Amino acid sequence: MASISKLEKNSSYLKVLWSDGEESKFNYMWLRDNCPSAHDKDSRHRMFNILEVSQNINPKKYLVNNEGQLEIEWSEGDHKSYYDPKWLRENCYTLKNKKEYISPYELWDCSLEKNINSISIEHEEIVSSDEGLIKWLELLHFKGISIVKNAPTEKKSAFKVLNRISHTRETFFNTPFEVINIPKPNNSAYTAHALRNHMDLPWFELPPGYQFLHCLINASKGGDSSAIDGFAVADYLRKNEKEIFETLVSVPLKFRDKDYTQDSYRSFHAPAISLTKDQDFHDIRFSVATMDALDCHPDVMDKVYKAHHRFGNLLHDDKFQINFRLEPGDIFSFNNRRVLHGRTAFDPSSGHRHLQGYYMDRDEIIGRLNFLKK
Ligand code: OGA
Ligand code: ZN
Repeated sequence: MASISKLEKNSSYLKVLWSDGEESKFNYMWLRDNCPSAHDKDSRHRMFNILEVSQNINPKKYLVNNEGQLEIEWSEGDHKSYYDPKWLRENCYTLKNKKEYISPYELWDCSLEKNINSISIEHEEIVSSDEGLIKWLELLHFKGISIVKNAPTEKKSAFKVLNRISHTRETFFNTPFEVINIPKPNNSAYTAHALRNHMDLPWFELPPGYQFLHCLINASKGGDSSAIDGFAVADYLRKNEKEIFETLVSVPLKFRDKDYTQDSYRSFHAPAISLTKDQDFHDIRFSVATMDALDCHPDVMDKVYKAHHRFGNLLHDDKFQINFRLEPGDIFSFNNRRVLHGRTAFDPSSGHRHLQGYYMDRDEIIGRLNFLKK
């Protein structure tokens, strides 16, 4: 592990020269704010309040002490801080910002269809081992898709495997929601119609991060499933059709909840593609069924519609889409804000079809994976 070999005081930061030749800048307010004594031992919350010192705070004295720690006596507040070099190195924002960002996402296209076993995992494996759970979570996080095989087919039985991750996310559709054709359906999923590739609930400020469709019975003719990696399509547009990509990233579309049973009017504006601070893909918002009458500026409406049209076509393109059929005991699990899903129409008179659906926030998937991998 690198140790501190030299310190240099500057106007707003201390420069640390490391034994392996690296250099870090540590801003004075940042250092004071992150003094190890700033946090409560139990709650781990910061008790120190940076607002109680001035913006001119700086080291009156600074040195590397006999334990190798950076020791600072502050110009105000009568306080000394001791920083472990390992902590400083791990949290060094100079080095972090120098590193090239590497995306965790493994983009996929239609070739995944012949290799569908690579995203399958046995129910028993997840329930009985942390390795199995980690494998499932990694598929969900990296590929955005996984099919759990040989789960029980009793109603609500998916709670057992889902609760290995965390709690589910409740919505007015209830948990689980029943994907079954019903009279006077309040959602097109509750019919026997085909569903073009879509995400669920794009009209929420934060649509569910993950969706789990647990197949109990699939004995009707038709009702085959499709999925497509929206990030892969967005990546294709970013590389090949820059203007369209730019429009999809920058112009908010409008989505609206059209459920007639609700005493609530839910709607939200968001662009079709949103990016992270590292310009990686964050969210896709796409649902022909629930996009509202758009209200973007007249100068851009034509451009927006053409971009939406192009994106929508690519989101059903054979080059990207995979097709498969759910079997009883399958739990089709996917990132709802990345992977779009659909199904072909089915004939309810030819046999019964029943899926139970669950949602979960993305925080639960990533948080649990981070914890288990720690
Ligand atoms: C849904 C849905 C797919 C299916 O319920 O949101 O898309 O196969 N269902 O019925
Ligand atoms: Zn759906």
